Formats: sequence, structure tokens, C-alpha cells
Amino acid sequence: MSLKIVGRVHISPESDNIIDLFIAGGDLCGIGQPLSLLLKQSPLVTELSLYDIVHTPGVAADLSHIESPAKVAGFNGAECMKDAFKGADVIIIPAGVPRRPGMTRDDLFNTNASIVRDIVEAAAQHAPNALIGIISNPVNSTVPIAAEVLKKAGKYNPKRLFGVSTLDVVRANTFIAEAKGLNPLDVKVPVIGGHSGVTIIPLISQATPAVSFPPDQLKALTERIQEAGTEVVKAKAGAGSATLSMAYAGARFAISLIRGLKGEQNIIECAYVESDVTEAKYFSTPLLLGKNGLEKNLGLGKLSEFEQGLLKTAIPELKKNIQKGEDFINKK
Ligand code: NAD
Ligand code: LMR
Repeated sequence: MSLKIVGRVHISPESDNIIDLFIAGGDLCGIGQPLSLLLKQSPLVTELSLYDIVHTPGVAADLSHIESPAKVAGFNGAECMKDAFKGADVIIIPAGVPRRPGMTRDDLFNTNASIVRDIVEAAAQHAPNALIGIISNPVNSTVPIAAEVLKKAGKYNPKRLFGVSTLDVVRANTFIAEAKGLNPLDVKVPVIGGHSGVTIIPLISQATPAVSFPPDQLKALTERIQEAGTEVVKAKAGAGSATLSMAYAGARFAISLIRGLKGEQNIIECAYVESDVTEAKYFSTPLLLGKNGLEKNLGLGKLSEFEQGLLKTAIPELKKNIQKGEDFINKK
């Protein structure tokens, strides 16, 4: 059972209060199906479309019976791409294969790089102004791939392309809350860097409410956040990677993009974007979202000595992952 969702959000020019959301998904058993369900539930969405290479109409028919305003449409196969993407304002892309135990996210590159390339090529052609959120791994490389595709098409706008790293924030909030006996809904931990292993940098020193841990516990918590994806991959024992928690995180990010587009103030999410905050060309930091997508990069803030060490370790790995993505498009 597998799934991809590509999501499109269209804001009606007639009214700031109407949001059309397009999501494309397959047999919707991975991230796509629960992500579609969560977005169909949102009163902010008036149109929800699904795209995948298999099974999309059935999922769309099922979702369409839910008593929320969003109209649902399913698009199946590459020949439907034009109709699927046309007019999209937000596109969410979780297409591609997930990890099995023993694999790194980079091991997915060979399969997922071309999937992301082809979808973003279609997006550039049919929805050139869309905000694009990329979930497909390895995010550290698939975002640079998407950027290069958009540049080649003359459609790149760095304020409109995001690698979705929200799940790292969600996990950090959950684990820190557990460790301190807090309500996870009250905890906010920025997570910066990229989305794999040592490139995931939780800034526990900047958590709200403020928390502190002895050095060994801080190290263990940090490593758990960095390896949380692998924890799920191992537990699923060959049946894929995080899907439900990713759907939650993907929906949270998509809704934040929509709220920004609708002009809501103070919408802040961490995401992996083109950045000049560090030596790495793409880097996740807290971002202020708004009517144009990324309104302001809020930067690193003050890092503890421990976090500075994490950053130093992350940068060479990130640079390598970014180069690999760019080379995939530019060196043929
Ligand atoms: P899955 O195998 O369940 O679903 C993938 C879907 O992609 C399938 O429905 C498949 O038909 C579809 N697909 C394949 N090629 C396609 C194409 N060319 N066009 C359109 N659709 C296509 O996988 P999943 O568990 O949903 O994971 C999807 C991706 O998300 C993986 O790469 C995974 O590593 C990644 N992921 C990222 C995060 C994150 O935090 N960013 C978290 C979890 C998973
Ligand atoms: C995650 O963090 O859960 C995803 O990136 C999927 C994975 O392969 O770990």
C-alpha cells in the first residue's frame, strides 16, 4: 500500500476567504491518504485535488463524501498532469519510495530524484506561481533538484520553494515535552539544518518554555530527534517509514502556507529553503510566512556551544547533499 500526494492550493481571486487545495495521491496508504484526509477536514480548503500514477480516483471518491467544503478531484497518470496542476497555488509533493531498514535517505536518491524532477517540471509549466512543498526524500537533495528544474524553466522563486522539515519540529516538541512532563502543545523547539541524521539540528537552548538538561541527557535527546525517522523505519520492519506523523506534519505545514497566503500575521514554520544564513546554500531555519510564501528568514538565533558543534558537523554533509542534487540536473 503506497501513496503520493501532490497538493495544490488555489486562492480565488474573487475572495481572500476561499481556498482551493489540490493534492495528488496514489493508493494513498503512505503519507498521501492521511494527508488528504487532514486537509479535507480543514475549513480553509475549498478544493482538494489528488495526483498519482495509480488509484487516485477511488481515494478522491471516498474523500468526497466527507461533509467539509473542499471539492475533491482525483487525477491518475502523467497524461493528467496538466489538468492536475493547472492554476495551482500550493503543491505538496510526497511522491517517491520510502526507506527500508538499513537504508539512508540518500539511498533513495536514485529513484526519487527523477520522480521529483518530473513533477516539478510539470509544476513549472502548469502552475508557475505555486508555493511548492517537497516531502520526498532525500529532502536535502530533492529541494536543490527542484530549484534547478525551476531555474531551467525560468520559473524559480526562492521564496516559493520549501523542503518540508516540520516533522523534525513535531518530534522535538514531543520528545522534550515527554522528558519534562509538559503538554506537547505548549512546547516549541526550532529545528534547523537539513532533514537527515547529523544535518537535523534541534535548538533545545531556544525551546519555549525554557528547558535545560544535563549534558548526557541533552546529547541523548538530540540524537533521538536526529534518528527519529530511523526509529520508525526499524519499528515498521520493512513496511516503510513515518506516514501518519508525516501526514500530521505535512498538513500543519500546508495549512501554515495557506494561512500566510490568506494574509494571517505571525505564521512561523521551520523549513528547508535557499538561504544565506550559513555556508550551506539550502538550510532550514524558522521562517515568517505570508502572502508571497517566505516573507522573512528569521535566522539561527543564539546557539549554545553544543549546538555550534552540531552545526559544524552538519555543514559538510549538507553541502555534499546539495551538490549531488544540483549535479543531477546540471551534469548530464
Ligand atoms: P509510499 O510508497 O507509501 O507512497 C509513495 C507514492 O508515490 C505512491 O503512491 C506512488 O504511486 C507515488 N509515486 C511514485 N512515483 C510517482 C510519480 N512519478 N508521480 C506521482 N506519484 C508517484 O511512500 P510514503 O511513505 O508516502 O513516502 C513518500 C516519500 O516521503 C518517501 O520518499 C519518504 O522517504 C518521504 N518522507 C519524507 C518525510 C519528511 O519529513 N520530509 C517524512 C516521511 C516520509
Ligand atoms: C522521517 O524523518 O521519518 C522521514 O524522513 C522518513 C525516513 O526515511 O526516515
